[in-house]
Amino acid sequence: MLKAREAVQKLKEYHPPLGGRRGLRLDFNENTSGCSPRVLTKLRNLSMEDLARYPEREPGERVVAQHLGIQPHETLLTNGTDEAIHVLCETYLEPGDEVLIAVPTFAMYEIYAASTGAKIISVPADSDFAFPTEKVLAAITPRTRLIAVANPNNPTGALASQKDLLRIAQAAPQAALLVDEAYFEFCGETLVAQWRQQENLFVSRTFSKVYGLAGLRIGVLMGHVEQMRMLRRNSSPYNLNAIALLALPEALGDREYVKQYVEQVLRGRAALENELQALGVHYWPSRANFVLFYLGAGCKPFIAGMRERGILVRDRSNDPGCNGCPRITVGTDEHNQRMLTALREVMEEIGVKEKVGQ
Ligand SMILES: Cc1ncc(COP(=O)(O)O)c(C=O)c1O
Repeated sequence: MLKAREAVQKLKEYHPPLGGRRGLRLDFNENTSGCSPRVLTKLRNLSMEDLARYPEREPGERVVAQHLGIQPHETLLTNGTDEAIHVLCETYLEPGDEVLIAVPTFAMYEIYAASTGAKIISVPADSDFAFPTEKVLAAITPRTRLIAVANPNNPTGALASQKDLLRIAQAAPQAALLVDEAYFEFCGETLVAQWRQQENLFVSRTFSKVYGLAGLRIGVLMGHVEQMRMLRRNSSPYNLNAIALLALPEALGDREYVKQYVEQVLRGRAALENELQALGVHYWPSRANFVLFYLGAGCKPFIAGMRERGILVRDRSNDPGCNGCPRITVGTDEHNQRMLTALREVMEEIGVKEKVGQ
């Protein structure tokens, strides 16, 4: 009988709870309204010729590189950040190598790393989900070959300092350090171009969040030219489809759209955090477009109550240290208003009352 590799047989199945997502989508940290209208205009004018040709990735890499002020050869466009993580794992990991992952965090690091047969070393976050720099440094061994950090982190919204991340990269020159900046636009701190000093550093970005293009699957992995040469060898030449490549320059070109969306998210995030504070609910201050908070036994009724009001939010209870924690994505002013109104009602229903005077 045909058998998958042992490492693959051992993988846990990962089913994001997407099924039948009807209502206001505050559960996957997507853009809650959508992409720049410029993208849609472009796609409405697609020609048969556009679809008949094999897609050319390089012009897209030139556009992204120019936007970020780096060289095209320092970039690799990928089919979402997911593929960036996959290619990194396939390029650097041998069975038995060690991969350091500070948890809780984004699930795909562990999945793609474990599928190579590498050994996953989970490092628990410090108190209040702060990034565990000293614990990560202490866990580095000569077999450490990949360290993956979401910065800001999902689902906590915590941000590791650039200084600490560079210390880690320096302490493990034999390992690739991936700094996943999926939520960069909401925090503004980046390690882009630092790989010129630190060759084992990689940075990834995505078009699934602020740009509202999760359905098109566009990400970019960046790093030192010599390392990117290796990654390129190991990636499919047509990993991005023609439609995604046509959309990309339009999405990047509409800076005003992104700026306005980010402003709304930052306003909404502050309003949500203030509301939770007033309710006496413990939350973790976030640098991303979502907020994680603790409701304990109230978590499931809260999520159900929001769903009854047409609002989808995510239960993060299965993440390490997150039992009883919902996570809410923040979006446009209008969506944030709807969310706050429903949140107040549901909190009242489950017995969490506003503390007067706070
Ligand atoms: C930290 C982090 N990285 C990457 C992704 C996924 O990005 P993409 O849609 O580009 O694969 C997510 C999505 O939730 C995320 O939270």
